[in-house]
Amino acid sequence: MKILITGGCGFVGSNLAIFFKNNKIGTLINSLDNLSRGGSRLNLQRLKKKKIKNFKIDIANNKLVKRLPRYDLIIDCCAEAAVETSKKDINKVFNTNLVGTLNVLKKCTKDKSKLIFLSSSRVYSIDELHKLKNNNKTINEKFSTAGPKSVYGFCKYSSEHLIREFSFLYKIKYIVNRFGVISGPWQFGKQDQGFVSLWVWKHLNKKKLNYIGFGGNGSQIRDVIHIDDVCELIALQVKKINKNFNLLVNVGGGKKNATSLKNLTTLCQQVTSNHIKIGSKKSTSEYDIPYYVTDNSKVKKIYKWRNRKSFLNILQDVYKWMLDNQKELKKYIK
Ligand SMILES: NC(=O)c1ccc[n+]([C@@H]2O[C@H](COP(=O)([O-])OP(=O)(O)OC[C@H]3O[C@@H](n4cnc5c(N)ncnc54)[C@H](O)[C@@H]3O)[C@@H](O)[C@H]2O)c1
Repeated sequence: MKILITGGCGFVGSNLAIFFKNNKIGTLINSLDNLSRGGSRLNLQRLKKKKIKNFKIDIANNKLVKRLPRYDLIIDCCAEAAVETSKKDINKVFNTNLVGTLNVLKKCTKDKSKLIFLSSSRVYSIDELHKLKNNNKTINEKFSTAGPKSVYGFCKYSSEHLIREFSFLYKIKYIVNRFGVISGPWQFGKQDQGFVSLWVWKHLNKKKLNYIGFGGNGSQIRDVIHIDDVCELIALQVKKINKNFNLLVNVGGGKKNATSLKNLTTLCQQVTSNHIKIGSKKSTSEYDIPYYVTDNSKVKKIYKWRNRKSFLNILQDVYKWMLDNQKELKKYIK
């Protein structure tokens, strides 16, 4: 099976490409990535070592996407992944995250390829998530998608609908994964995306951090899944795609991997043995949510899969990766 991973030099895409190569999943693995994300050039070097070719093109450019070789399967990991970018550069989010999906779908139609799409928990209603706060609930696929969800979330949600339309019309077999927070090595964390990796980095380098929003005391709760668990799941999805297709699942760390920012700080102190100053900014972004924890029941049942790595494992693995590559990473993580 020939596989194209879009966003193949990103955090998820690069780990997936290398996991597939190491585990001999697929006969050919290629990547499409315009290298716009900080750190993607470092990931490109990792791909090159594994003889994985990257096509440096913009996913919004249909002419160039169309010209790529034929693949049996496209795994779409390409996105402007930061929710807050919706406010600063709406065109970038729209073109990459929605026009990009359209181009991928046109390519799938032309080549009769299957599609695995990385969607997001941000398709769910901001208002409804606000009502949950810390009430211990987990969120399944039936949770409300009504109302605003950020332009990022809108593009993911619209992409899901577009995929269903193309599947209906052109019989494209697809899987949509609505992921919660993913973390692990080779994630180049920023304030607005990849907060777990950012937290470890700032502790390691004894730099200042801020709790932002919801009173500025670090009370937001998220569940986090290890990239290795994600790779294992997507590998299973690839293997079983002729049996299990045209489905949509939530995937995340679940209750056992749920953490507040405050707890993340405590664990970072344990893992790095460093204590840093954490400031406080009280104002909350319209797009921020106080709580999200995944209900993995559906994906567990279909694939007999479960996420195995604990939240502490994630921090330990990120810390080790950062220690091993500290000098080089200084260029990419601020
Ligand atoms: N990381 C998470 O916690 C998380 C959670 C839920 C969903 N997702 C989704 O998973 C996918 C992968 O996320 P990630 O964390 O690896 O993000 P990432 O930013 O690390 O990777 C995305 C890659 O896409 C590339 N890219 C961006 N715009 C492009 C364009 N116009 N043309 C070509 N390439 C372009 C970037 O250079 C980058 O390498 C995304 O679709 C994201 O929305 C991620």
